[in-house]
Amino acid sequence: MKLVFATHNQNKLNEVKTLLPSYIELVSLIDIGCGDEIPETAETLEGNAQLKADFVTEHYGLPCFADDTGLLVDALHGAPGVYSARYAGEQRSAADNMNKLLDELQGKRTRSACFKTVIALNLVQESILFSGMVEGNITYEKKGAKGFGYDPIFQPNGYDKTFAELPLDLKNKIGHRGKAVQKLIAYLKR
Ligand code: IMP
Repeated sequence: MKLVFATHNQNKLNEVKTLLPSYIELVSLIDIGCGDEIPETAETLEGNAQLKADFVTEHYGLPCFADDTGLLVDALHGAPGVYSARYAGEQRSAADNMNKLLDELQGKRTRSACFKTVIALNLVQESILFSGMVEGNITYEKKGAKGFGYDPIFQPNGYDKTFAELPLDLKNKIGHRGKAVQKLIAYLKR
């Protein structure tokens, strides 16, 4: 069975590929000749994941799934949330996004936050959503060089290091995306 992961990100693709049973041939947007940047215009993670999966279903007619992730900060009423990638502007700079978040949290008593990933799976007859979350706190400064995005300022509960300081395999195991992917895989293997 050929299954499209609606992403141009080869790292994400490889990560999921290693976890899937061999009868599933996982391919990316590049593999199916889709160079389009699929618009993410919904106001929720669920909506954006579904938009991306539906784009592939409509234009290519192949079984597929898409993901969308956000960082939800309690003291900011869930911001940056669905706007995490472009929190500090369309330049989508991780450094600018983290600086803005650290500024916004100055003087706030609580620094709790969570990462949430939603995956939308479109099979021939069905459409299903899976989600994964990890809770933690926003640190006062950036620490570590691994990972990407907000990893240097997110410290998962139960650890005294940020995601950017922890090994990648641990992040994949306890993290938001890994948990959502595990649910997707369990469903595909059923
Ligand atoms: P996407 O939906 O996977 O493209 O994620 C949207 C944005 O959320 C990214 O541009 C990052 O800023 C942030 N993000 C997503 N996943 C992670 C992560 O695992 N660590 C840190 N930041 C992330």
